[in-house]
Parts: sequence; structure tokens; C-alpha cells
Amino acid sequence: MKPKVLVTRELLPEAMDFLRGRADIEVGISSGNLPREDLLKKVSDKEGLLPLLVDAIDREVIDRAPRLKIIANCAVGYNNIDIDYARQKGILVTNTPGVLTESTAELTIALILAVLRRIPQAERFTRDKKFKGWALDLWLGKDLAGAKLGTIGFGRIGRAVARRASAFRAEILYHDPQRTSPDIEMFYRATYLPLDDLLRTADIVTIHAGLNPQTHHLISRERLALMKRDAVLVNVSRGPIVDENALADALAAGKLWGAGLDVYEREPEIEEKLFSLDNVILLPHIGSATYATRLKMAMTAAKNLLQGLRGETPDNPVG
Ligand code: GLV
Repeated sequence: MKPKVLVTRELLPEAMDFLRGRADIEVGISSGNLPREDLLKKVSDKEGLLPLLVDAIDREVIDRAPRLKIIANCAVGYNNIDIDYARQKGILVTNTPGVLTESTAELTIALILAVLRRIPQAERFTRDKKFKGWALDLWLGKDLAGAKLGTIGFGRIGRAVARRASAFRAEILYHDPQRTSPDIEMFYRATYLPLDDLLRTADIVTIHAGLNPQTHHLISRERLALMKRDAVLVNVSRGPIVDENALADALAAGKLWGAGLDVYEREPEIEEKLFSLDNVILLPHIGSATYATRLKMAMTAAKNLLQGLRGETPDNPVG
């Protein structure tokens, strides 16, 4: 008999086909997000669970699933899962690292350039038929060349962003709880700084860290106040790493030059004050959103899931 699996939301067709031949699949919902009540009901007889990052897999869900062997998250971040409790219950947890690094780094660079050159604002201006001719001071922005780019988090994605920013001739600073080796620093031409020094120094601060109790509100009101008035903050990692209300206040008061956000504290809710500010660009959590990458993520999650169900060590265990 094939193992019973809950896939909380229909994945891309190739990944569904791959799974269907190999497990007894129930799809939680064909589109949108699976309501909590349905998740609690549907998980109860399953041995495998393949959730998305929007599904909170907490104690209650885990307690409802006495037969559960593996939770194969379809995301690199796994803050949506109570991994300590899963471990206590002997349930494996996996994620999808690596396959989304390049797409996320590309989106980060796109967002940095969009903020620096005010591309969406200038596009709206043109579309609104306000372009009346070239002018020396029309939509003046900032250069990435020569800027000090500070990445908070120097793992796979932080490094991929650093490589690209170097090609744009930015100077690379980084902060990470684990300082890397001199060889790697030399390879990336990256300078380590303590967090507060990085915030005081960088022209562009970009966040590439996981969300955990240590990083929640890491960029607090006090830390935002350390940043230079003409600096830019970009976040494509997890919203709660930044105090969103404090960021909106800083942007409104002109204490920061601009910001680019792909993630929010209470997704899909967004701090209301941000909508009226024209020095922030707001994206709908699309860091890894290319077809090829989302398919690789789904396939990676599916493979991890099947490995766990077969009693093998999955490729990408976490916790
Ligand atoms: C996306 O946000 C992910 O964690 O994969």
C-alpha cells in the first residue's frame, strides 16, 4: 500500500505527476491557502506532509497526526514549522536549500536597483503621461557602483547577492553570527563587521537570514536609527526580522532614503502606513518565483518526502 500523504496545495503539474505515482496523495486545496480547520482534519491519517511556507505546522497540527513521519517543507525557510516539537515526536523535517539561491539573488538585485533608480515610480509617472521631455533632474536616483552593500546573513543567498553586487562594483560588507574564513572573505572581497557597525556604514543593507527567536526584530527601531539617512534597506528573507512599523516611521520621517520589501511581518497583511509612502517598493513575496525554480523546489520537497517515507535519510534534513 502506498503511504498516505497530504500536499497542502496543488503543486506544479510535473511535481504532482511525480508524486502521484509514488504515494497516495490528498491535495488540501487546488489554489489559495488551505484553511486551518481543513489542514487539521486532513492531516490526521497521513504519514507524510508537504506544506508551503504559509501553512503553520505547530504543535496542534503535529498532535493531530499520530502517524506522521516526515514534514517536507516546500521552502528554504522553515520558521512555519515547530521543529523542536517535531523532533520530540520523532518526525523528520526537511527544506529546499540551494535550488532557489540564484533566483532569490536575482530578485534581490532587481529590487535594489529598482529602489536606487526608483523604477516603479518613474514607470508610473511615464504611464500617467507626465513625461514632458528629458530633464537634468528628472527622477534622480543612486548608483550601486561604489556603494557599500552590507548583507546581513552570509550564507548561500547572501553570498550570491554579494557576487552579483561585486560585478556592479559595489563594496561588500557582511554580518553573520558565524564569521567566515579569510579565504572566503577574500574570494568575495567581503569585509566582516559587527551588526551595528554594518548598519552605521552601509549604503544598502540587504537581509538574507532565517527567522528564529534570535533574528525576530533584529532590525528594531533602535537599529534602524543607526542607519545613514540616505541608506536603503532591502528585505527578501522573512518579514518579522524587521520591525515593520518602525521601518514605516523611519521612511515617513525621511530617516532612510528608501526600502524594498518582498516580505512582511504579518503576511499577507502589510503595515498600512507603507502604502502611502513613495520611497518604498512593495513586492508580494516573489523572491524565488520563477517557474523553473518553483518546480525545483516542489521536486526537492517531493523527493525529501519520499525518502523519509521509505525510512531513508532525506537529502535536506533540518533541525
Ligand atoms: C521562500 O521564502 C522560501 O523560504 O523558500
